Amino acid sequence: MPGTDSGTGGAGTMTPEIVPFDAALGAEVRGVDLARDLDDATFAAIERAWNGHSVLLFRDQSIDEARHVAFSRRFGDLEIHVLDQYLHPRHPEILIVSNVMDGDRHAGIYDAGRYWHTDLSYMAVPSRGSLLYAIEVPHDAAGDPLGDTLFTSTAAAYDALSTDMKRRISGLKAEFSLANRHARLVADGDPDATLSDAHREKTPPVIHKVVRSHPITGRRSIYVNEGQTSRILGLPEDEARDLLQALCAHCTRPEFVYRHRWRAGDLLIWDNIPTQHLAICDYALPQRRYMHRTTLRGTVPQ
Ligand code: OGA
Ligand code: MN
Repeated sequence: MPGTDSGTGGAGTMTPEIVPFDAALGAEVRGVDLARDLDDATFAAIERAWNGHSVLLFRDQSIDEARHVAFSRRFGDLEIHVLDQYLHPRHPEILIVSNVMDGDRHAGIYDAGRYWHTDLSYMAVPSRGSLLYAIEVPHDAAGDPLGDTLFTSTAAAYDALSTDMKRRISGLKAEFSLANRHARLVADGDPDATLSDAHREKTPPVIHKVVRSHPITGRRSIYVNEGQTSRILGLPEDEARDLLQALCAHCTRPEFVYRHRWRAGDLLIWDNIPTQHLAICDYALPQRRYMHRTTLRGTVPQ
């Protein structure tokens, strides 16, 4: 049974109830209406829960773009996503995540998260966190939701490594690139996958540590991921490839994973440092999926 731990709150504040998921990460926040202004005590309780649980779910929310952006900004500065063809036309802080067509172009990024990844790990300064708000969720004929998102705790995955493996990977670095993700989509036969020369130039490969520490909690986590890490550096090629595969497979073992079944009105915030996520693409038009995402700026991984 999941337990509960409550945030603080005096008169006139909303007192969030934090209900941890029965999983290695994540919690639902109850009793908070994001359409209203949150006072500092309420926000502090949310931020504390976020740092502790890495993924937070707010259900049954009804927020417009300005509210989504304003709530996101309380956590820190926002990124304008490098894939600028998918930005909201009036709110560039919002990336549209959707399979919906707008005439003959995609209204949003339709192939986000096809591989395990963490947002903007291909940038020199990756994202701290992302807030994804579900406006339309696809369903099957029986009414069950499609397009689930899986989250894994790469901190729990790190903790579960043997002492020898921790020693082996400490100090290693790896290369990450958006081009790697693109190449995988092409290799897997995505007919619409594109990466313009301009986007390629804006995202040259970057180098990060294989293991990073969380700037707030200090917790270590495995940072390499299947979608965006091209290679581990400083080892013979075969060994580097096998190690990358082994670490990616380890990170996504079922005991570290939470599967989110979306409902319209869900707002999910995740910490991009101790987690990875994967989108399940088990739906297609006319089943519509339409979401808004904001992206928090991060710091150079340490
Ligand atoms: C993202 C992402 C997954 C999904 O928005 O960063 O990876 O299920 N989305 O839409
Ligand atoms: Mn993502």
